[in-house]
Amino acid sequence: MVRRRTAALAAGLMVVASGGVAAALSSPSASAATAGCSVNYSVNQWDSGFTANVTITNTGPALTSWNLGWTFAGNQKVTQGWNATITQTGASVSAASLSYNGAIATGGTTSFGFNGSYSGTNTSPTSFTLNGVACGGGGTSGGSTGGTTPPTTPPTTPPTTPPTTPPTTPPTTPPTSPPPGQKVDNPYVGAKGYVNSEWSAEAAADGGQAIANSSTAVWLDRIAAINGVNGGMGLKAHLDAAVQQAAGQPLTIELVIYDLPGRDCAALASNGELGPTEIGRYQTDYIDPIAALEGNSAYSKLRIVNIIEPDSLPNLVTNAGGTDGSTDACATMKANGNYEKGVSYALSKLGALGNTYNYIDAGHHAWLGWDSNLAPAAQEFYKVATSNGASLADVQGFITNTANYSATVEPNFKVTDNVNGTSVRQSKWVDWNNYVDEQSFALGLRNQLISDGFPSSIGMLIDTGRNGWGGSSRPTGPGATTSVDTYVDGGRIDRRIHAGNWCNQSGAGIGARPTAAPSANIDAYVWIKPPGESDGASQAISNDEGKGFDQMCDPTYGGNARNGNNATGALPNSPLAGHWFSAQFHQLIANAYPPLS
Ligand code: GLC
Repeated sequence: MVRRRTAALAAGLMVVASGGVAAALSSPSASAATAGCSVNYSVNQWDSGFTANVTITNTGPALTSWNLGWTFAGNQKVTQGWNATITQTGASVSAASLSYNGAIATGGTTSFGFNGSYSGTNTSPTSFTLNGVACGGGGTSGGSTGGTTPPTTPPTTPPTTPPTTPPTTPPTTPPTSPPPGQKVDNPYVGAKGYVNSEWSAEAAADGGQAIANSSTAVWLDRIAAINGVNGGMGLKAHLDAAVQQAAGQPLTIELVIYDLPGRDCAALASNGELGPTEIGRYQTDYIDPIAALEGNSAYSKLRIVNIIEPDSLPNLVTNAGGTDGSTDACATMKANGNYEKGVSYALSKLGALGNTYNYIDAGHHAWLGWDSNLAPAAQEFYKVATSNGASLADVQGFITNTANYSATVEPNFKVTDNVNGTSVRQSKWVDWNNYVDEQSFALGLRNQLISDGFPSSIGMLIDTGRNGWGGSSRPTGPGATTSVDTYVDGGRIDRRIHAGNWCNQSGAGIGARPTAAPSANIDAYVWIKPPGESDGASQAISNDEGKGFDQMCDPTYGGNARNGNNATGALPNSPLAGHWFSAQFHQLIANAYPPLS
């Protein structure tokens, strides 16, 4: 798997619009003249979504019902509200009281909230109307000046029927999940992550207690995995366990969709069960039953993240065209179109469900990071997301570094650095790449995807399970400025022999723990490759899983065109891909960064 080229954030914005003694306004109606209000609108910001909490203070006479209005400056859209009925027409929004919270005494307050999406800038509104009258004048912060002209229409008449008695316990917190069928912008925000008890037990039994409660993905790596292999948990068992773990709260469960015909065409370690032409079986025996389970109403409150087919489309982009490192198997999959058909089919079938989030695998920086690969990759993703029944709406975003080892962020050098006038891009390690780490690559790719037609709502995931690179060999500062090579090699935390090495890497450590919205436009750091599971066997091992022997997993092999003919850096004595590799797990724990406490 995975070869080269070949948190909720919370910037607590706060705006206060206050003042608004309506007597100061030349009011067209008596009731308008007596209204008065101040509004506190505070925002928890994440990625391209946000939660707003709004508190109204009634500075006028007692109210029996209220309707707060405002106009967004940008393209903000209310996706889900609580403690008010919120309606939006274009940019203008009105929030009306419910039966239990219409009454606000003079000087009293009430609050409601909502989740929203947006792209561009999320400017908070500073002008509000309460029952049609501006809460204007003298904002105390956020530059609010409020409304200066009286409303042209008087407020609506008070309700003819008085509000029913309030429920004894009015809801005070937002609903924990959107209604079934309504997707959130970032499924990781505000959600727990599913803990796979099978992985967790292996980790805990092998010295990994400190991370055994982490969320890792469930790999559906063969048709039999849907029902469970060798008595293990199948998809239904995992989804049932996820419902239990959720206990009524939002929970994200990650499933790796990984069984394309002719799988892993540029390597052998994770060759799969379906031959290159078996697209029909892929659709009916693999995707259809998965879609049926994911679509079962028992699971409608789970947030189901599908990681779509690691390595497949990147292989079509760089390893199928007769260039150095291309393989006949990838050329076959490009020519027969079955990777594209399979991915489109998975996107459309799984994307059609109300609570699923598809992230397409996008390789990693040392695979697609060169401009000459990035642009064709983005075009390939667009093509697959818009053909064979798939649409852009089926794509939540993309994932990079799946099962790989690249640093999330290289702390000691940037791609724009020079040494004595020579760009670090000319160092042996960077090798003219336009990116030196995953986060910059993920964001650069996202920009390219958006300029090619994907919506700006797409978010990125990074698999950080094994890219920690801690331990005593971790550089603590930049390398010597003797040359670009001393500078880069002395400073880089990614200590692989070559950035194209992908199998059971010597020196790697557990990376950043799963984190929601760690940075703008990064939906989450995730652990997709379960730490401790092998990338491939270091020598041929007969098996009934379709797994081959890839020399990139053999520490004595001298490499191929895809890793610049370098040594592989693989650990010795590794078992088949997906099998528990205790020695690697111990190394990952020892070299974790941040270190495990
Ligand atoms: C590899 C294996 C697959 C396994 C996965 C997660 O891709 O081929 O069988 O499930 O890694 O460890």
